[in-house]
Amino acid sequence: MLKTHTCGELRPEHHGAAVKLAGWVHRRRDQGGLIFIDLRDRWGITQVVINQETHPDAHKIASDARNEYVLQVSGNVRNRPEGTANPELETGDIEVVGQEIVLLNPSLTPPFYINKEDRIEEVRRMEYRYLDLRRPRMQSNIVLRHRIVKFVRDYLDAKGFVEIETPILFKTTPEGAREFLVPSRYHVGKFYALAQSPQQFKQLLMVSGYERYFQFARCFRDEDLRGERQPEFTQLDLEMSFIEREDMLQLIEGLVIAMVESVTDRKLLFKPFKRLTFTEAMETYGSDKPDLRYGLEAHDISEIAGKSAFAAFQSNVAEGKPVKVICVPGGAKVSGTLLRKQTGDLETLVRSVGAKGLGWMALPENEAEEVKGPIGKYFTVDQKLAVMEQVGAKPGDLLLFLSDKRAVVYAAVDILRRTLAEQMNLTDPTILAFAWVIDFPLVEWNEEQNRWQPSHHLFTAPMWEDLPRLESDPGSVRGQQYDLVCNGYEAAGGSIRIHKTELQERILKLIGQNLEHARKLFGHLLEAFQYGVPPHGGIAWGLDRIVMLCAGEPNIREVIPFPKTQTGADLMVSAPSFATPQQLEEVHIAIVPDEDEPPES
Ligand code: AMO
Repeated sequence: MLKTHTCGELRPEHHGAAVKLAGWVHRRRDQGGLIFIDLRDRWGITQVVINQETHPDAHKIASDARNEYVLQVSGNVRNRPEGTANPELETGDIEVVGQEIVLLNPSLTPPFYINKEDRIEEVRRMEYRYLDLRRPRMQSNIVLRHRIVKFVRDYLDAKGFVEIETPILFKTTPEGAREFLVPSRYHVGKFYALAQSPQQFKQLLMVSGYERYFQFARCFRDEDLRGERQPEFTQLDLEMSFIEREDMLQLIEGLVIAMVESVTDRKLLFKPFKRLTFTEAMETYGSDKPDLRYGLEAHDISEIAGKSAFAAFQSNVAEGKPVKVICVPGGAKVSGTLLRKQTGDLETLVRSVGAKGLGWMALPENEAEEVKGPIGKYFTVDQKLAVMEQVGAKPGDLLLFLSDKRAVVYAAVDILRRTLAEQMNLTDPTILAFAWVIDFPLVEWNEEQNRWQPSHHLFTAPMWEDLPRLESDPGSVRGQQYDLVCNGYEAAGGSIRIHKTELQERILKLIGQNLEHARKLFGHLLEAFQYGVPPHGGIAWGLDRIVMLCAGEPNIREVIPFPKTQTGADLMVSAPSFATPQQLEEVHIAIVPDEDEPPES
C-alpha cells in the first residue's frame, strides 16, 4: 500500500507515529521556510508541514506542487502546537511533519475549484465530471448512495428477499413511457426495447415461486427530462407474494424509517407516515405528490362563495366548479404597494397554469380597518367571517381565492403552494415528510384518444370491493395502487397486481386494447398466469430521488455519478454519437435526414 492511513484518520493518539499518506493537494500555503499542504483523499484532509531546514528535498517538491497534484508523504504525526488546532477539520488536532515527499503525478490547473463550494456552470461540471466527482460534496453524495443501497440490501436480505437480475434488452411493453429501441443484427428489422422497469419479469418471478424478490434495476425511458427525471435511472424494484396492500405499506415504511435513521441525519416529520387518499391530496394540496413540510392547504368555500355577490363565483359554483381559498399567515402585514405587487405576481403565476385570475382579501390587523383587495366588496361581513372561520384565518392574514375547472384549480393550488413555501422559507431540506397516497382511480379518461387508460399501469388490481362497477362506472373504481411521496416528489410507486387472466382481460377490454395485440406484447404473462400464480404486489423506489432527498440536493443529477443533461446528452464522453456506415449496415438501418434540422457534426 502506498499509504498507511487515510487523510481523515489521524488523531492525537497517533502522536509520534511514523505514517505514509497519499492524496491530492487540496490547498498549499507557502510561508518561505515552512510550507503547509492540506492533503486530501476521500476520507478527509490532513495538514502536512514541511520544513526547508530539516527536509530540503521534501520542501523542494512541496514548493513546486500545485493544487490537485498527487503526492505521497512520509512523516511523523504530532499534536499541533497550542492554539493552532483547527476545529473545522476532524484531523485538526494533529499535523504530519513531512520528511519525504514523492510526486506521484502533477495536474493541470482544473477548470474549476475542487477545494471551494463555488457556483460552477453545470455544463463545465458535466464536461469534467471526473473532477466534479472529486469535490468533497459530490463524494459525500456518492458515498451516501452506497450506504443507502447497502442498508437496503442487508435489510431485505434479513427479511428473506432474494436479489435477482432481469434483462435490460427487453421488448416493447405496454407500461406507458416512450422506450429506447436497440436494433437486432440477427433479426433484421426487429428491435429490442431497453427495459423501462422490470415489471413483467418480477411478476413472472412470483409465478416461479421466489415470493420475495428485489433488485437495484437500471431503467430506461425516453421521456422529456426535468430535474427529477433521467433517461437512465435506478429503481429499487421489489415484489412479494401472498400479501395485501397493508403488508407492502408496512414493509416499505419500516425500511425507509430504519434507513433514514441509520444512514442519514435527516428528521422524519411523520412516524408512522401520513396517509392521504388521492382525492384528499388533490382537493387539499392540488397535487398527488404534495409537499407536507408546510400547511398552506386549499379550503373549499364553494358554499359560501356561491352565495356571495361575485358573479364569477356564483356562476362557477352553479356549474359545479369549486371556489378554493389558501390562507397565507401574516401575508397582509405588508404595505399596500407591496401587497399589490405580490398578489399581482401570484396572479401571473396562476395564469401560467391556465387560471383566469386570482382573487384576494387582505385581512386587516386592526378590526377598525377595511378588508383590502378586489373581491372583499362582494362578500357580506358575515360571509367574510364564515370564510375566515372555515379556513382558520386570523387578522393580518392574506386569503387567496381560486375558482375554475377542477383541474385548473388543482394546478394553481399546487404552484401557489410551492412558490409561497419557497418565499416563506418553509422548505427545510433536513426534514423529510414521507406520506402514502392511496386510493388512486384505477383508470383515467384520455380526452384525446377518447378512451380509458390505466392511471398506473395495466397490471394494477382494482380495489376488490369496487370490482362490480368496473364496466358500469369505471371512473369510480379505485386501484390498489400506492405512491410514497416526500417533500413534493413521488419517491416510489407500486400496486397489488391482477393475478387472474380473466380480470386482466377485462381491464384490457376496458382500456380498448385489442386482445390479439396484447397477446403479442405480453402473451407470456397471460400464459404464465395459467400455471398457478400467487396473489402478489410490489413497488419500485426511484433510488435517485430517495438519495437526492436524503442528501438534501435539489435534483437527481447531484447523486448520479454520470448523469445526462436535460437533452439526454453526456457532455463528458460526447454521447450520443454517430454510428459508422458499417455499423448501420450491419443492423440494416438507413438514416433519413431531418429536413427541419441541420445534421449535427
Ligand atoms: P413508476 O413508473 O411509478 O413505477 O416508477 C417507480 C419510481 O421510479 C422513479 N422514476 C424515475 N426516476 C428518475 N427518472 C425517471 N425518468 C423516473 N421515472 C420514474 C419514481 C417512481 O416513483 N413498474 C412500476 C413499479 C411497480 O408497480 O412496482 C414502475 O416502474 O420515483
